[in-house]
Amino acid sequence: MFDQVMTAVLGHIARDALSFDDRGMLPTPLPQPGHRYLLYIHIPFCESLCPFCSFHRIHYDETLALTYFEALRREITGYHERGFRFSEAYVGGGTPTVNLDQLLVTLDLIRSLFGIEQISVETNPNHLRESTIGQLRAAGIKRLSVGVQSFDDGLLARMNRLGPYGSAAQIIERLRVANDAFETLNVDLIFNLPGQTLASIERDLEIVRSLALKQVSWYPLMASNSSRVQMQQAMGEVDFSRERALYERINDGLAGDYELSSVWCFSRDAAMIDEYIINHEQYIGVGSGSFSYLNGVLYATSFSIPGYGATVDRQGHGLTRHLPFSRREQLRYYLMTNLFGLSLSRDVARSRWGPGFERSLWLEIASSRLLGMVRIEDDRLVLTRRGRYYLLIAMREFLTGVNNVRDQMRDEPDPIRLKWPGV
Ligand SMILES: C[S@@+](CC[C@H](N)C(=O)[O-])C[C@H]1O[C@@H](n2cnc3c(N)ncnc32)[C@H](O)[C@@H]1O
Ligand code: SF4
Repeated sequence: MFDQVMTAVLGHIARDALSFDDRGMLPTPLPQPGHRYLLYIHIPFCESLCPFCSFHRIHYDETLALTYFEALRREITGYHERGFRFSEAYVGGGTPTVNLDQLLVTLDLIRSLFGIEQISVETNPNHLRESTIGQLRAAGIKRLSVGVQSFDDGLLARMNRLGPYGSAAQIIERLRVANDAFETLNVDLIFNLPGQTLASIERDLEIVRSLALKQVSWYPLMASNSSRVQMQQAMGEVDFSRERALYERINDGLAGDYELSSVWCFSRDAAMIDEYIINHEQYIGVGSGSFSYLNGVLYATSFSIPGYGATVDRQGHGLTRHLPFSRREQLRYYLMTNLFGLSLSRDVARSRWGPGFERSLWLEIASSRLLGMVRIEDDRLVLTRRGRYYLLIAMREFLTGVNNVRDQMRDEPDPIRLKWPGV
């Protein structure tokens, strides 16, 4: 019952904070002098579409993809010309490796413009071929993240993944090779899928341990308005009542061999590279359907894939919508993302937000302490074992809110109402 109340409260906060109803001119995203940001690059093409997924993605089309990658490189160059500098890049999708040649040309560009050393790329298991792995390594990829979702052939079939992305046996063989090829090899799994049983999770746990996978991001199922309908048709009813028990089982099953590096990321070695949201408060997203978060403003880049290139040419960038967060929302976002990464340094928070940081969030911090979700350890606010599941609910509701924004953006015509000064 308490979990349902938490879901309702946190869902309400996320829905309230996340709705693009901006009417005015887009504020100019400008870099702070000397600051290096994270660059997120979105590749919205997939060979087959999964019913649970509410990321911005469409069926791969080579002609469209070639035009898209060219526009993407123009957008990246535009940010360089405006003075943005990046220390790290994350290429997500969709499926970034769907056109490897174009991806490699794009990675060459970001390395030559920004000298980026740390690059993460997402992929699907069918792309874990020896030649692809070699080319990605040669391109300096430090973290490769492979979407597996489940090692259960029945579930893979219902997710439309069995044919296009491979059976559990094929995936296991490919992971055996890839696991040692990258500094961090991350495998994405999902728990609480419709039709997924505890026995199926136990088998997944056994496979993760026997392959000694370096890192596993084990996501709770998230259901945006559109993906809930798709899942219901393809896979069955979404049911959150089993979520806590499955999460606890996964925590217990990986304890000993793995350390948590976020609420749902398990690493064999604490030094591995995590999801970027934990380490980067601010980032710039390029490519259709990406988000940027800069100086307290959330921006979205045009969700029209054919129209994206024209938007970049007209404005020098692809941003079309913005959502300013109030100071309170920014502080809450900071607290939530830090606790998602398991702890928050009070000293760093005070120097970032001023001495009143904890006073401004006294209600959130006091109630979390009262409920036993966080404790104070020296300078740090630390998430407790009890708090992990509530942070999972908070993050799941926040990301579901982001997915609902994606639904909203996909349904809209391109609102070109902004101009970058000097363009
Ligand atoms: C958007 S995909 C992109 C990479 C690649 N195409 C893939 O399938 O993994 C990244 C990961 O997001 C996770 N994901 C997508 N939709 C989700 C959902 N509705 N609930 C939980 N996780 C989801 C999946 O685990 C997926 O591997
Ligand atoms: S989960 Fe990955 S492969 Fe499936 S539709 Fe989403 S982005 Fe594409």
